[in-house]
Amino acid sequence: MTTEGTGTRLSAEEALLTRRSVRAFLPTPVARGEVEELLQLAARSPSGSNIQPWKVHVFAGELRQRITDGILRALDEGPAQRYQREWNYYPQQWREPYLGRRRKIGWDLYGLLGVAKGDFAATEQQRRRNYEFFGAPVGMMFTLEEDLEIGSWLDLGIFIGALALAARGRGLDTCPQAAFADFHEVIRPILGIPDNQIIICGMALGHADTDHVVNRLQTQRAPLAEFASFSSFES
Ligand SMILES: Cc1cc2nc3c(=O)[nH]c(=O)nc-3n(C[C@H](O)[C@H](O)[C@H](O)COP(=O)(O)O)c2cc1C
Repeated sequence: MTTEGTGTRLSAEEALLTRRSVRAFLPTPVARGEVEELLQLAARSPSGSNIQPWKVHVFAGELRQRITDGILRALDEGPAQRYQREWNYYPQQWREPYLGRRRKIGWDLYGLLGVAKGDFAATEQQRRRNYEFFGAPVGMMFTLEEDLEIGSWLDLGIFIGALALAARGRGLDTCPQAAFADFHEVIRPILGIPDNQIIICGMALGHADTDHVVNRLQTQRAPLAEFASFSSFES
């Protein structure tokens, strides 16, 4: 693996093994040209009939700050239930094994941060860090035109995954952030996103603060046998 920094190039496997959702970034800027290259790499993603339905709104500096300020203000003014995403990410009825996995990441994350179970103020504080893009200098919003079907959501997911890996391959880090979808009403006018585009999720992009405790989070994955089945293999 080459040293990370300008000119870093990781193999696909190295990028897959070292990508993680980073929740504390350094303020070090990322040049527009670098983001453009990452998006061009991600746009090599496959999509059904090559329709390439993804749309990305990229911002930094003052505009990024306006989004943060607008959402934090909305949260302060409340009520929180007023802000709902336009789509359901999760099942209406949680069940195993998903519920247990979801709880584990929450406990592990808050445990690292020293937040006790039931400490709602501290939990809310961490939630708010989402809206500061965890300190990342670059923010993005992914949108889809509303008349597109579920296949396009699949294509966008592939694109977002590829973008995270492309960034990692260049020594950068990301955090996909569905948390932004709740605040589409706040974000839409700031970024000038037309009404016929659904705000699917956001992403923070930048250089990880490797000293921050939150970035020590190690997420686990279910063993192969839990999600894959093989048939008719010789060996
Ligand atoms: C579409 C999507 C949306 C996500 N939204 C958030 C978010 O709003 N806030 C957050 O802290 N993490 C978010 N995550 C990160 C997940 O929690 C993370 O991917 C998962 O726990 C696995 O950890 P890893 O990415 O470090 O491997 C999101 C991930 C995905 C794929």
